[in-house]
Amino acid sequence: MSSGTTDGAVPGPADPGTCPTGHAAGPAGTGYAVDPAGTGHAGGLPGHFAGASDGFTGAPEHVVELAGVTKEYPGGVAALRGVDLRVARAELLAIVGPSGSGKSTLLHIIGTLDRPTAGSVTIAGHDIATLTDRRLSALRAQHIGFVFQSFHLVPGISAQDNVAEGLLYSGLPRAERRRRAAVALDRVGLADRMAHRPHELSGGQKQRVAIARAVVGEPDLLLADEPTGALDSASGEAVMALLHDLNKEGATIAVITHDSEIAAELPRQVRIRDGQVVADEGRAAPTGKGRAPGTGHPGIRSAER
Ligand SMILES: Nc1ncnc2c1ncn2[C@@H]1O[C@H](COP(=O)(O)OP(=O)(O)OP(=O)(O)O)[C@@H](O)[C@H]1O
Ligand SMILES: [Mg+2]
Repeated sequence: MSSGTTDGAVPGPADPGTCPTGHAAGPAGTGYAVDPAGTGHAGGLPGHFAGASDGFTGAPEHVVELAGVTKEYPGGVAALRGVDLRVARAELLAIVGPSGSGKSTLLHIIGTLDRPTAGSVTIAGHDIATLTDRRLSALRAQHIGFVFQSFHLVPGISAQDNVAEGLLYSGLPRAERRRRAAVALDRVGLADRMAHRPHELSGGQKQRVAIARAVVGEPDLLLADEPTGALDSASGEAVMALLHDLNKEGATIAVITHDSEIAAELPRQVRIRDGQVVADEGRAAPTGKGRAPGTGHPGIRSAER
């Protein structure tokens, strides 16, 4: 993992309102991003996904555009070798491949947690090569939500406060952050677990809290690295069902997985092997799979559809 780009956020190029304190959303940290600005994302209910003109960027057709991306780690490991990848708004895709194939490296590059050795990375219309690390941090905080296998919840505070952390740098008053957190928790089916602390939640519930935290700031892109990896199959299905529901409501979601069955449930599979994209299959998702009762409530609406 790299945390070389996770310094505090400062105002982005077209985002003068960005919180100067910033927030580093790094995989070694809490693993989520927040809206640092209280800009476009701050209006509306949680889940007002991806699409509001936000002052940082317009709404480019592709949320992610990678061209010829390579990543070499010190010691000579070429973890990515010439990756081209475009992700359109409102896509739901799997990035699938065996252990060591470069999936997490790719997630870090797409998530702007790390920069490529060569090639170009454009996120929400911004060429990251043109941004300083601090501006990159602001972009990340505003546009990207992260979910990780190991949840990264803050121990000792309630589910509601964990989710409200996702709005910490939004400029919103605490009461409003907590109100939106409550809406987001209701959205993921945990209205009755608001006051529970992480150790009082099941694994699947923890991951749903983490998802609520990742989406409460209404990011353009949700990146999930093995989100079901620590869960039993029923909890994993519930989490995947939730991701499907969020996508139906307009969220752009990339799920990193080594599990071909999980990948097969998603409409598009980008297959990666030895640092290269070896297949990119987009097809209609099989119906009736990966869904579980009791997850998902109506309520999140996209600005664009
Ligand atoms: N910080 C690092 N320094 C050196 N090599 C690294 C570093 N991080 C990853 N690698 C190497 O890069 C390659 C890709 O690693 P990556 O973590 O992206 O794989 P992955 O597909 O996510 O695997 P897994 O499914 O096991 O999580 C591996 O060979 C790994 O050993
Ligand atoms: Mg990995």
